Amino acid sequence: MRFDILTLFPEMFDGYFNHSILLRAQEAGQIEIGLHNIREYAPGKHRVTDEPPYGGGGGMVLKAEPVFDATEAVIAQFGSGGSPVVLLTPQGRPFTQEVASELANKPHLILLCARYEGIDERVRQHLVTDEISIGDYVLTGGELAAMIVVDAVTRLLPDVLGACGAADEDSFSTGLLEGPHYTRPETFRSWRVPEVLRSGHAAEIQRWRREEALRRTWKRRPDLLLSARLSEEDKQFLATLAAEQVGKDLGEGDSEAQ
Ligand code: 6GU
Repeated sequence: MRFDILTLFPEMFDGYFNHSILLRAQEAGQIEIGLHNIREYAPGKHRVTDEPPYGGGGGMVLKAEPVFDATEAVIAQFGSGGSPVVLLTPQGRPFTQEVASELANKPHLILLCARYEGIDERVRQHLVTDEISIGDYVLTGGELAAMIVVDAVTRLLPDVLGACGAADEDSFSTGLLEGPHYTRPETFRSWRVPEVLRSGHAAEIQRWRREEALRRTWKRRPDLLLSARLSEEDKQFLATLAAEQVGKDLGEGDSEAQ
């Protein structure tokens, strides 16, 4: 899969992309990342990329021309007709694991990093095919969001993680948060690893992990339970959690009354 990133700050990406799994994925030829400086496509001696908004008001607006020229150059060199052009913006659709899976099916993505003050609306209307936001908060630019999209998409590609880190057991792809993990030593500062994990009973371990995932999701992100795929056994377990909680709430009520 190929990613082309258009930005005013290509150097920002070097640190993140040149380490760990993203570095390995590039070395193995599983992904290619092209970084393109929008400024190089700006006309004139001063290579101006932004100007004040028509109609007045604060801030500067990223000009249409260098963005179109940079994007069209990338499409001409690396694109097929259908390469999505994704604008990273807080106004985009929310980025989720589902959107990451959708993008992981594409052979090529063009990621356009804007500044929040704005980008000429004609880029949005006539060049961009998708808009993505990574959450309800405002960043100074789309660069971090582009890194997040590349990271989340790359780890879903075949063979990038390998069997050990298989992405299909992740939080969110099962619809639940993951439960706890432990590694050696068995006792650390008197805190022991749960006995069941050392029991060797595969079925019991699997059930324990499922229940811990359910418990954690129920406590931290109950909203996820509405869309998770749950067995009858899962539902019964959640009912016992709910009953325990009611018991605790009533107990607290008693002690408050005393
Ligand atoms: Cl994609 N860009 C910026 N500038 N801020 C954001 C964002 C993107 N997603 C959330 N906040």
